[in-house]
Amino acid sequence: MEETLVLIKPDGVKRQLCGEILSRYERKGLEIKAMKLLQTPQELAEEHYAEHKDKPFFGELVDFITSGPVLAFILGGQNAVASVRAINGATNPLDATPGSIRGDYALTLDSNVVHASDSAESAAREMKLWFPEYK
Ligand code: CMP
Repeated sequence: MEETLVLIKPDGVKRQLCGEILSRYERKGLEIKAMKLLQTPQELAEEHYAEHKDKPFFGELVDFITSGPVLAFILGGQNAVASVRAINGATNPLDATPGSIRGDYALTLDSNVVHASDSAESAAREMKLWFPEYK
């Protein structure tokens, strides 16, 4: 069993897509292991996006993720990291296949509705950041 961290970003929460998005993961067979709706603290946002801190869009990433409530959760299941990424679709909604979350609901790279860990290593790091109390 593998676990991964998923965020429904402020655009997804604001557009009331949480139920629709969660049902896609659940129908696939992924299990919700932990969940919270939160206003992301600045420090957590900067830590979450630490690998992008030298990129020109780092400030925009942090501003966006802190712009409103985020639904954060841990999903578990076989190959959870890869399964969630397939359900989410490509990072750039222009490349995301119709039928994926970003393919169906997102138009732009900055407002792409969901985030998910990109590897088992990122998942371990991100789960500890967002759910220090888990396990
Ligand atoms: P996410 O999965 O949250 O992780 C990093 C984010 O950076 C990614 O989703 C995109 O939303 C965002 N991103 C990647 N490239 C760019 C870019 N060139 N300009 C703005 N945002 C970007």
